[in-house]
Amino acid sequence: MKLTAKNIHPLPSHVAIVPDGNGRWAQKHGFSRVHGHREGVLNMLRMIQYINAYPIKYVTFYGFSTENWNRPEPEVQGLFDLVEEFVTQHLDEIHQKNIKISHIGRWNGLPSNLQNAIQKAVAHTANNSGMTLNIAWNYGGRAEIVDAVTKYVKNENKPQQLDEKTFANYLYTAGMPDVDLLIRTGNETRLSNFLIWQTAYSEYYFTKVLWPDFGKRDIEKALLEYSKRNRRFGGL
Ligand code: IPE
Ligand code: MG
Repeated sequence: MKLTAKNIHPLPSHVAIVPDGNGRWAQKHGFSRVHGHREGVLNMLRMIQYINAYPIKYVTFYGFSTENWNRPEPEVQGLFDLVEEFVTQHLDEIHQKNIKISHIGRWNGLPSNLQNAIQKAVAHTANNSGMTLNIAWNYGGRAEIVDAVTKYVKNENKPQQLDEKTFANYLYTAGMPDVDLLIRTGNETRLSNFLIWQTAYSEYYFTKVLWPDFGKRDIEKALLEYSKRNRRFGGL
């Protein structure tokens, strides 16, 4: 049987996306960088809809990294305004799709109005049983590991009792499966401190397409490519 967008198999359980290229997209079209990010958020909404049409249980978007603080203040502010808008104005739309919103990253350092808005969205959708949408905001992979170790030690756990499974339960992604498919748009082939523990055995898919242009056909292509990969996890 020929694989089509509808019968792709196997599908990933967890897709992680690095939506890169908003700035270059804006420049190409003569817009401000913040306008590029606005287009990026709109595309994220479309992509959630496309991915939600498949039985995929987890999707994680890299929204703002612990390193993105190094960007000019107006761009950082623009990004914060956009995510707040996303979790407030689009909350009903997401909730109606039975999607559960979750946040991964450090709360510390985020403005309190944004913390409240994200927490409200998380609480509002907490009982939904469909896809989980992880928003990585103020997220860093190394910070996540440091936070996990700190928590483990604070709980007075014994180091000799630590194993990989136990450790994973101290990460922001506790209870979620590892990433099966990592997609990065915008012609960059690096991980940039994203989910460094959870992508240890992920399949990587890189594309030159800039994030605001990454559409339905592109995600289908990525999922199809994933379905053809031979995952051996170090075995034969
Ligand atoms: C990715 O787009 C979005 C975020 C980091 C929030 P960029 O802003 O990195 O876009 P380019 O790489 O400059 O094109
Ligand atoms: Mg970039």
